[in-house]
Amino acid sequence: MDDEIRIDPWGSSQSTDYSRIIDQFGLQSLNSLDLPQPSHLHRRGIIFAHRDLDTVLEANRRADRFGVLTGLMPSGRMHLGHSMVIDQVNWFQGIGGDVTIAVADLESNATRGVSLAEGRRIAREEYVSNYAALGLDPEKTNVYFQSQRSVVQKLGFQLGKRTNMSELESIYGFDGSTNLAHIQAPLVQAGDIIHPQLDDYGGLRPIVVPVGVDQDPHLRLTRGLASKTNWFNIKESKLGLQIGVSIQDDNSNVMGVMENGRVNKEVQKSIFDKIVSAISDLGFSDIISNPKHGTVNVPSATKRDKYSIRIALLSLERKLGGLGLLAPSSTYHRFAIGMTGDKMSSSKPKTTLFLSDDVKTAEKKIKKSFSGGQSTIEEHRRLGGNPDIDVAYQYMMYFFERDDNFLEEINQGYRSGKILAGEMKNMCIERASEWITDLKEKRDETAHLVDQFFDYFE
Ligand code: TRP
Repeated sequence: MDDEIRIDPWGSSQSTDYSRIIDQFGLQSLNSLDLPQPSHLHRRGIIFAHRDLDTVLEANRRADRFGVLTGLMPSGRMHLGHSMVIDQVNWFQGIGGDVTIAVADLESNATRGVSLAEGRRIAREEYVSNYAALGLDPEKTNVYFQSQRSVVQKLGFQLGKRTNMSELESIYGFDGSTNLAHIQAPLVQAGDIIHPQLDDYGGLRPIVVPVGVDQDPHLRLTRGLASKTNWFNIKESKLGLQIGVSIQDDNSNVMGVMENGRVNKEVQKSIFDKIVSAISDLGFSDIISNPKHGTVNVPSATKRDKYSIRIALLSLERKLGGLGLLAPSSTYHRFAIGMTGDKMSSSKPKTTLFLSDDVKTAEKKIKKSFSGGQSTIEEHRRLGGNPDIDVAYQYMMYFFERDDNFLEEINQGYRSGKILAGEMKNMCIERASEWITDLKEKRDETAHLVDQFFDYFE
């Protein structure tokens, strides 16, 4: 294996070698999943991979609850790239998910030097006012600040017990000179991602986190932390699904391990009886309990039963005093290219459209944007343009155009040289102007709702 891809959530470069990212980090491709009413982002392959999204879809099929969580870094203005995450949150909300949004004010303070007060202002004026305009439902959305939700920090601290510096070094490239606030930030983010499952914040249910691949390190870390706390594991075996019991510092008492290391058989038996009873409540019979080996087999259970068995065991763990945490699911989107051809970034206004840009500014930026056309009209007619690197085309595909057939038509028209680069830009300008005007109107209409998104009573 030659050069490994390293993903740095705080870095300024961005790997776009998506198939290698899928391979190297073990993401699952989205193609094999059957999504209800796929959005334009799914249909166009912009959302391209996931981890355990099946869990969320299964909950949805069973009409069980699920949640969606995202976070915002209050350090600059909201731009098109950010709005794409909200499109995804909207989609999950549309199929029945409840929504939690973390304002990463602690992280922004630690990694970008933004004060907590300034973070609060930015979150409200730049982001949440646009969330309302983009259609998030304040009744089903809760926005909170990391600095004010102490349980998130507490969880970060507790989960910290399940990792160490070597793991953080290998995931994030931290080293001896990394300041400790920076090291805390991913643990707090793990707290963000996990806490909606706590009984006070909606209880045990699948939580999905839609992100760009740059945030995957946080998900890898968090999923690992959650799994390491689990008292019961499930794996596929020759005999259907096999449940294993994991004895840990904080459950050995409950599991019947005595001071001297010997096992109290009666306590052990009662735990295994509880497992068997939780599984038979789901309708399984012929359960083979083997306390001596620390396993329970459910021969008639298949892969598809994992979800219900897992939820039952996590509930049991909670009843016995454990955290009972389900590893979060996630989805991954591609990044739209920046308007100059570089990475999109709020600190470089020319690389993107801000949601508060006016129509004139948008028009100017699109006119100057990176083009996939040829340098002369004559050459363009002869050789055709390349829509894959053409900002005007790409932005219609990512943000402004919902009609797949129309896109297909102009894609071919561009490649064949029939449509010129200037014409492509004009089509984009027309749609962007409408989008921006419409959003501004909606912002005004929904301004009175903004307060309702925040949780003031903590
Ligand atoms: N770190 C994220 C960013 O830079 C913000 C964030 C905080 C977040 N908590 C989160 C994102 C939880 C997803 C899930 O934008």
